[in-house]
Amino acid sequence: MITFNEHIMQFQLDTAHTSYVMRVKEGFLEHVYWGALLDTGDHSYMRREQGRASFSPHLEGCRGPILDDIPLEYPCFGRGDLRTPALEVLNPDGSDIADLRYVSRKIINGKPVLNGLPAFYAEEGDRVQTLCIKLRDSFSALECDLYYSVYEDLDLVTRHAEISNCGAQALTLIGAASACVDLDRCDFDVISNYGTHEKERMIERTPLVHGKMEFASRRGSSGHVHNPFIILASRSADEDKGEVYAVTLVYSGCHSMSAEGGQYDTCRVVAGINPDGFRWQLSPGETFVTPEAALVYSAQGLGGMSRTFHRAINDCLIRGKYRNRRRPVLLNSWEACYFGFDESKLMQIGACAADLGMEMLVIDDGWFGVRNNDTTSLGDWYINRAKLPNGFDNIHKMLHEKGCGLGIWFEPEMISPNSDLYRAHPDWCLHVAGRPRSEGRHQLMLDLSRQDVCDHIYESLASLLRTGTVDYIKWDFNRNAAEVGSALLPPEKQGEVLHRYYLGLYSVLERLVTDFPDVLFESCSGGGGRYDCGMLYYMPQTWTSDNSDAIERLKIQYGTSLIYPLSSMTGHVSASPNHQTGHVTPLNTRFNVALTGSFGYELDPTKLSDEEKKFVTETAAIYKKYGDTLVNGDHYRLRSNYTEDCAAWCTVSPDRSVCIAVYVNTHVRVYPRNEHLVLKGLDENAYYRDTLEGKVYSGKQLMGYGVAVDRNYEYSSAMWILEKVK
Ligand code: DGJ
Repeated sequence: MITFNEHIMQFQLDTAHTSYVMRVKEGFLEHVYWGALLDTGDHSYMRREQGRASFSPHLEGCRGPILDDIPLEYPCFGRGDLRTPALEVLNPDGSDIADLRYVSRKIINGKPVLNGLPAFYAEEGDRVQTLCIKLRDSFSALECDLYYSVYEDLDLVTRHAEISNCGAQALTLIGAASACVDLDRCDFDVISNYGTHEKERMIERTPLVHGKMEFASRRGSSGHVHNPFIILASRSADEDKGEVYAVTLVYSGCHSMSAEGGQYDTCRVVAGINPDGFRWQLSPGETFVTPEAALVYSAQGLGGMSRTFHRAINDCLIRGKYRNRRRPVLLNSWEACYFGFDESKLMQIGACAADLGMEMLVIDDGWFGVRNNDTTSLGDWYINRAKLPNGFDNIHKMLHEKGCGLGIWFEPEMISPNSDLYRAHPDWCLHVAGRPRSEGRHQLMLDLSRQDVCDHIYESLASLLRTGTVDYIKWDFNRNAAEVGSALLPPEKQGEVLHRYYLGLYSVLERLVTDFPDVLFESCSGGGGRYDCGMLYYMPQTWTSDNSDAIERLKIQYGTSLIYPLSSMTGHVSASPNHQTGHVTPLNTRFNVALTGSFGYELDPTKLSDEEKKFVTETAAIYKKYGDTLVNGDHYRLRSNYTEDCAAWCTVSPDRSVCIAVYVNTHVRVYPRNEHLVLKGLDENAYYRDTLEGKVYSGKQLMGYGVAVDRNYEYSSAMWILEKVK
């Protein structure tokens, strides 16, 4: 609920358990409070003016406020706030001053869409309200509408800004964040993800310093290195308790997520498009819409924060047929045969997969152009008849007769210099005239800031999807950007290219998901190099990592689960020894770890022993039965191999009638203690039957002592499927 108290000019945004309070004072929109739910009252006492910042400039000679000491909702550079700005502009006179003051407010039921950008949505009947506050710089006639959408039941607040040039001359945005939050303390730990290809989303937790800590990307995508979120946790916060503030971005391009410990022990969080390399020319009458930021406060520690994000992403970001539903069990051909397949091989592995209970064969890289390795053919999206003389027809027919779908890999945003497309359109890639074009994995990025390129990409996929043979698309993206330039834009607009690229990509994706609503899209970028809420708006799942080693995946999946729900994480059982690490891991452990919500296989099933095939058949049935619980359940991280020799988690259905728990040994030591796994989230007054072993436990036992665990050998694991006894 949003309330506005006109006497004290105070806005209060309440969700079921949280409040976010702002006020207008001397024209400035100030931040007052973000935390546990408050009564509606006068909260202005929370803002104490201490006359600090004697060195910082005052407004109005030396009488006015000192902006450097005021918590602001959308701070601008140029008038004395010397912390990280949310907005920085280059005015026609060459100055970089902006001075936004309150003009008006509007409260809307529901949530307006963000033009051309992915965003959390609200449906009829959802308890969602939106506050729009208009600010204006009367010197430049720059207007800024700040949007706050309050999801009452989800404990979620989303924000974005719309910046309009109402003046007579063009100006340039050189930084336009999605959100800024000024907290009045700095005794936080900052939690972020870092990583690289095959090692994505490792967790790092460090005390906030006095100074700026920034987690950013200039890679042309959200990237493997820093995922677009930032978490501030009270120093004592753990999985279950303590205050946690988190901000993530619904965006897939270059981001900047920063926290700045200030001179008066305050903290400013700024989240948005990375201002480095960004320039946006705003002509008179034009409006720039920032990506959306999503804000979650939890007093229930990191676990509470994660479950809030998981529910919000599952219920109000992911769309389409597969929202809140388990996905088909699939076999992906990549680690089964890489580029080395033909029709007969695909028929064999596809038929075998279907006979074992799998529901989709995905033909990965190598089915098009003359692609037998990664040096060629991206852009030539026609079937390689040398490998597949009958196209997909026979494979599709065989699979459909067995009740199985067909999936196809694409990398639509890329072009190989060795391709017919490049020979026909050498200017269709991102490049700067006269400079060399740097290749990554022998490929260049197409220029999706161009409409003709976007139309071409749409048509490449749509023409195949129209045949009705394809049920699933794996959409890959395998390099970072360099020489970011577009042949169609003038010099003064080259700083817009990467954001325009994402507007182009999102428009293609929107057309595809609208025109082909039954197709399941999976996002991928060398594994999880573009794992963000922007892509999840169009594609409900992401290939979590190219590292398919079950033991390595434990940390990756743990880190991913900070923000993203299990439903969005694809996990595959791959061969042992693992292709990336050589680890030898038991099949049941590989299954237990891959069972992360969107489950499949990444091996040659014809090479499995009869015993292994039996296991695959039985576990496919388990996934089909409990997949919806894994997708929609409340996820509890129980043990972490960041700090222990094991990892464990459980997922509990929303009605607490089913719990799936997993424990994995990552290192066995001599004389291990009597290990037991304490579960969470159950009904303590109920009894639960372990459906695999038949034993019945009380909820109190399970959440008190837990289940007994054998730590008998390295990489052994156990799963419990507990159902409430009626
Ligand atoms: C990178 C992906 O992450 C892999 O799963 C696979 O699809 C390869 N690309 C194919 O080139």
